Amino acid sequence: MTVDTPAPRAGDPAPAAGDGADSLLLQLFPTARRKLPFLRLGSAPTPVRQLTDLPGGGPEVWVKDESRYGGPWGGNKVRKLEWILPDVQRRHRRTILTFGALGTNHGLATALYARELGISTAVALVDQPVDAHVRAQLDRLRASGATLHFTHTPARTTAVAPLLIARHCSPLPPYVLPAGGSSPIGTLGYVEAGLELAAQIRAGELPEPERVFVAVGSGATAAGLALGLRMAGLRISVTGVVVNDLLRLDLRSLQRLARRAARLLRRRGAVVDSDYERIGAQLDVTRRWLGAGYGEPTAESREALRTAAARGLELDPVYTAKAFAAVLGEREESRAGDGPWLFLQTHGPRTDGPPPDAAG
Ligand SMILES: Cc1ncc(COP(=O)(O)O)c(C=O)c1O
Repeated sequence: MTVDTPAPRAGDPAPAAGDGADSLLLQLFPTARRKLPFLRLGSAPTPVRQLTDLPGGGPEVWVKDESRYGGPWGGNKVRKLEWILPDVQRRHRRTILTFGALGTNHGLATALYARELGISTAVALVDQPVDAHVRAQLDRLRASGATLHFTHTPARTTAVAPLLIARHCSPLPPYVLPAGGSSPIGTLGYVEAGLELAAQIRAGELPEPERVFVAVGSGATAAGLALGLRMAGLRISVTGVVVNDLLRLDLRSLQRLARRAARLLRRRGAVVDSDYERIGAQLDVTRRWLGAGYGEPTAESREALRTAAARGLELDPVYTAKAFAAVLGEREESRAGDGPWLFLQTHGPRTDGPPPDAAG
């Protein structure tokens, strides 16, 4: 392969966020363009704003709001699908087989966006505490036309995965997509968002944050963001707030995901500096706000939901409420001079939702 573009290095200026139609990642690595198709599904850049009047003192808190990103469902899953869906098409697969818990945002977003491209989705679902939020998600998932397999536990899901793959051959095997869309290719969605954030900082839309807080449900959002910020030459620290105890989610597994994303870029023709893979120093993973487990609310997450709602920020109880609880909790323990901090709003419900007759 001919490589005609010098490798960008940490500190090189990242591309400016343009009209949002093109990918900043592909602008940075143009030699990957041919083998790395991208499908814009939302309107970029997503807005940033300061959250004023938070209780107590402490660092300034800003929000990058991914909630309106995308059409039929919003939030962080859409960015991953911008790379995943073209990859499914490139491999000529007709069905995606993916995994999640009963209230999966990822399974729902995948089903809705894949359907628009004529691709069907099957989701293996493990149990989680069922409340009104989860029941509503399941209704939306059913209405999306996805085939649902209730596999109940991670162990049973692993055991029946070969049967599910065989069942969804058409005739090619289904495209097997890990839980949360956190494959190396899905991770590129948040590398892109990291470059976008860097461009917004450089354009003066927000001050350079000292830390970014993000929920960790399957890992690609935090890992991709840390990698993207590093590629843009920014040493901002990403705090991944673990909300899921059903998957292995620690610093090593997230670093590994970022490395695999960088290697994928290289395999597709990008000239990626190996320095980018050393994101360890700027990624931090905490389980402190998880509570009793995935989908189990905590006193802090309930309070965070209320505090955010009063400031026009709609959080979900499973992911973003715990990530925002981390912001509020760590703010109380902060020292003079800390901040500013940025919270990544990754929850993107659509109250109009997919109507029940949208199935099929
Ligand atoms: C609303 C929301 N926020 C955050 C996350 C976490 O993202 P990731 O799975 O990439 O860790 C998820 C999904 O898991 C989600 O649905």
